[in-house]
Amino acid sequence: MSTAPVDPTTTPAWSRLTTLAAGLEPDLRGWFAADADRVERHTHVAADLHVDLSKALLTDEVLEALLELAEQTGVAAHRDAMLRGEPVNVTEGRSVLHTALRLPADASLVVDGEDVVAGVHQVLERIYAFARRVRSGEWTGATGQPVRTVVNIGIGGSDLGPVMAYEALQPYRDGGPEVRFISNIDPTDAATTLADLDPASTLFIVSSKTFGTLETLTNARLCRRWLLDGLRAAADDGSVDEQDAVARHFVAVSTALDKVADFGIDPDNAFGFWDWVGGRYSLDSAIGTSLVLAIGPERFAEMLAGFHAIDEHFRTAPPERNVPLLMGLLNVWYANFLGAQSHAVLPYAQLLHRFPAYLQQLTMESNGKSVRWDGSPVTTTTGEVFWGEPGTNGQHAFYQLIHQGTRLIPADFIAVATPAHPLRDGDTDVHELFLANFLAQTRALAFGKTAEEVRAEGVDEAVVPARTFPGNRPTTSIMAPALTPSVLGQLVALYEHITFTQGAVWGIDSFDQWGVELGKQLATQVGPAIAGDAEALAQQDASTQALIAYYRAHRGSSSEESR
Ligand code: F6P
Repeated sequence: MSTAPVDPTTTPAWSRLTTLAAGLEPDLRGWFAADADRVERHTHVAADLHVDLSKALLTDEVLEALLELAEQTGVAAHRDAMLRGEPVNVTEGRSVLHTALRLPADASLVVDGEDVVAGVHQVLERIYAFARRVRSGEWTGATGQPVRTVVNIGIGGSDLGPVMAYEALQPYRDGGPEVRFISNIDPTDAATTLADLDPASTLFIVSSKTFGTLETLTNARLCRRWLLDGLRAAADDGSVDEQDAVARHFVAVSTALDKVADFGIDPDNAFGFWDWVGGRYSLDSAIGTSLVLAIGPERFAEMLAGFHAIDEHFRTAPPERNVPLLMGLLNVWYANFLGAQSHAVLPYAQLLHRFPAYLQQLTMESNGKSVRWDGSPVTTTTGEVFWGEPGTNGQHAFYQLIHQGTRLIPADFIAVATPAHPLRDGDTDVHELFLANFLAQTRALAFGKTAEEVRAEGVDEAVVPARTFPGNRPTTSIMAPALTPSVLGQLVALYEHITFTQGAVWGIDSFDQWGVELGKQLATQVGPAIAGDAEALAQQDASTQALIAYYRAHRGSSSEESR
């Protein structure tokens, strides 16, 4: 049974931080000039990640008070309870053990009398064996063709992680099939994803923790129909053994293996995981099967090792050197004391272009809560809006607001030293040009440009205010040697534990997601009304009725239907 959360706002550290925030006069120029050790003191190493917090709005006193806050709200005790397998997901009565998914095979973690590590590695070995068969061409479809394309059908945590990692690890995909992803119930998603595929060489992975998600099951049925129709059309006698075809072209990943069998998927071709893995924490479970197929077992194992390295850092590093703890506390400082409502994540690595989208589920589904784990209301604001785009594209879109807008937007900049695809433009190493932008942006945000500096350029006095940059816009710079599978695992684990730290300070259950349920329920009630059920329509509010009327008046046949 979990203990009642500490109200962070009643702690002495909170009072101290409130006073410090009121008296804070951010002056990164002055702080850097007066303190030769600032960068060294605020730069930390976690596995392969080099993390520079020196451009944060952080003084030594603030840092000390934040660490006191962590202590007074019991963050470390809560972390240890999670790692031991205690049911810290209180509202669902579950353990939270994504960290067990990346424990090495010789580790052991007994929860409720069962060694969960042994179970994890049994499933991993089955997935690895399956991946070797697919990658080598030994696994064939109903007509004897090897698999050329894998389609992962899933949504939320059963999609975002695999997509993000598949994109990020593009240089490591050699020897594997192409992987595509269908997530949206918008029929366009399935239609366009399947359009140019050959059913005979396509393998589907139905990925769903619950195996009850409307989008995924609908898309899975659409794909099954597409497969059978396609195989039938190509068969000499126009017939197909449906059971055999589904068995050879469909595998499943789920915690609900009974429902998998009901769908017609051979239980031998299903990979399980456990209810103690949250959807948004499941990339490193069997939900990563599509990624294993793409990059191979060895590289997937390297990614797991990267996750584990950061887990160990989070578990053992002293608080003042503990990067996820420090970054989580910094976020609390910005959100609760300096009024930040959002947080940008800006990867200077094109291959991380889906990382912000992935983080949106991780952070916002975890910490977008108004009640604490004992059901009482939260006592402070929670859950910033996380967003971002890769640099330098973001620079030409929204950075204006970060530089000169009226809102405080803390930003994490992420870059790697060694590019995946080194290219030169004449004498210029283009990666260096790219990094120059990373460094220039964090510098401009921190130190700005004073009116005097603008005047020194001899511009018209009238435009001096518009061309002045206030500076003191906080950033964190995260660098790594290269975007390897291990580094990707480290980055994901880093943000998992940042999210955990914030949730622990706020006293919320970061592992449930009741807020997404109401919309799902209502969709099942609205569906019949859209389809013409008068009784269901009468039960809708006036706005919904009017929108349905508009739909029914304007629905034309799409090009496909009219064909
Ligand atoms: O709608 C939210 C959610 O429950 C996520 O937490 C989860 O990742 C997603 O739906 C998909 O769920 P499932 O894997 O059970 O299909």
